[in-house]
Amino acid sequence: MNNNTTDDFEASLLSNDSKRKYMIHLFNRIASRYDLIRLLVFLGHTSLWYRKALSDLELKSNDKVLDVGCGTGESTRYIKRLYPQVEIEGLDISSGMLEIASKKDTQGHYFEGDVCNIPRPDGCYDLVLTCFTFRNFPDAELALNEMMRILRPGGRLLILDHFYPQSPVWRIIYTFWMVKVAPKIAGLFIDDTKPYHYLAKSIIHQLKFVDFIQRLENKGLQVVASNLYSGGASGRLIAICNKQS
Ligand SMILES: C[S@@+](CC[C@H](N)C(=O)[O-])C[C@H]1O[C@@H](n2cnc3c(N)ncnc32)[C@H](O)[C@@H]1O
Repeated sequence: MNNNTTDDFEASLLSNDSKRKYMIHLFNRIASRYDLIRLLVFLGHTSLWYRKALSDLELKSNDKVLDVGCGTGESTRYIKRLYPQVEIEGLDISSGMLEIASKKDTQGHYFEGDVCNIPRPDGCYDLVLTCFTFRNFPDAELALNEMMRILRPGGRLLILDHFYPQSPVWRIIYTFWMVKVAPKIAGLFIDDTKPYHYLAKSIIHQLKFVDFIQRLENKGLQVVASNLYSGGASGRLIAICNKQS
């Protein structure tokens, strides 16, 4: 696939290798402006969502944690601040995003890789988290298999992601903001705003929250927490992995 000719607006429908290549290209392209644009597009709500989703995890000393799709490391650093005693690593497929993460956290451990083929042995993490990333994975089933494989029996998988609000009024406002306003905000900082058209589409195509829970349960995961925030614009799921895939 030639990434430059991909219709970004329809990219949320891609899968497998086309999607993988598209994601690398997209995130490398926006990496240097990613944090600032996100702050403006979501009006600072991301910090609120991290606080709600990550502050009740009760991680223990020396727990091993992997942040999958760590991006510029905001979620990774958030966990570090809350639980300085844990050992956390960040994995991402975009070298551009990882470069920013490593600059912002020079003591941190960030490495390049694909969620569909995580270069780590079976059962080595107590917690695997992935924040605002699941929609971008090239193969959702394979990604889940891999994240389950690297969890120890009884380990937890945490998924925090954007969802499409269910309330009709909120949906109209949210759609207008994401489809019409967000790309304009992004356009103040980057020439090519197509990634922000993709963002809107990927949220609109996101599974419904209840279907997402079902997907995890179908994999044999035990969902122990499911929370929607900001009228359903984002949501968190925590699931215990009792068996390895
Ligand atoms: C929207 S950003 C979220 C970053 C971070 N988790 C946060 O909360 O700010 C999504 C990240 O997922 C990464 N990503 C996309 N596909 C991936 C894959 N197959 N494997 C690993 N990371 C991936 C992207 O490179 C990008 O950095």
